[in-house]
Amino acid sequence: MTSYAVTIREEQPGDRAAVRRVNEAAFGQPDEADLVERLAGDGAGLLSLVAEAGGGIVGHILFSRAEIAGAAEACPAVALAPVAVLPAHQNSGVGSALVREGLKRLKDAGHARVIVLGHPSYYPRFGFEPAGNYGIRCPLDAPPEAFMALALAPGALDGCAGTMRWAEAFGIS
Ligand SMILES: CC(C)(COP(=O)(O)OP(=O)(O)OC[C@H]1O[C@@H](n2cnc3c(N)ncnc32)[C@H](O)[C@@H]1OP(=O)(O)O)[C@@H](O)C(=O)NCCC(=O)NCCS
Repeated sequence: MTSYAVTIREEQPGDRAAVRRVNEAAFGQPDEADLVERLAGDGAGLLSLVAEAGGGIVGHILFSRAEIAGAAEACPAVALAPVAVLPAHQNSGVGSALVREGLKRLKDAGHARVIVLGHPSYYPRFGFEPAGNYGIRCPLDAPPEAFMALALAPGALDGCAGTMRWAEAFGIS
């Protein structure tokens, strides 16, 4: 694996086109790029980071507001999605740098828990574990091991049993 000199910084207004290009190229379709723009438009986006390498934007990650709705009070949560790296820059640590920096910033800002629906072989390295371990359910028909949660503070997933509710822009009800 080659390692790049990567700078992670918050997305700026002038980055919008580059962020769109990264998401379209990484996913090979416009859906995730559209989602990113909807989340920014309706104010659900919480933290949007870009990765710069060689003078250009090669990666992007978005965290948005979510909640875990249970029988008792809902637990506020942060959803990680999407994360995208230009194909030519994949497997060089860019995605990991984006995830780690994002989680650090969320923790520093006092957020307690993060949920992701994604590759079960990728996210455990950052501390994610099956959300089902905490009674957190996915409203989508997804493999249980792909639906993961991370506590940013000790015990932050305890008492949060319920159903994950992504922001409206995801179109999941
Ligand atoms: C998934 C993605 C963000 C990872 O970023 P990256 O910069 O390529 O990954 P890193 O270099 O930080 O980490 C490399 C590791 O990720 C793994 N990986 C890369 N793409 C993966 C994928 N699609 N599924 C599972 N694991 C993946 C590699 O196998 C490697 O694992 P190893 O360290 O055990 O060898 C990037 O490959 C990408 O944009 N993929 C297309 C879009 C996508 O699938 N986004 C995530 C949706 S959950």
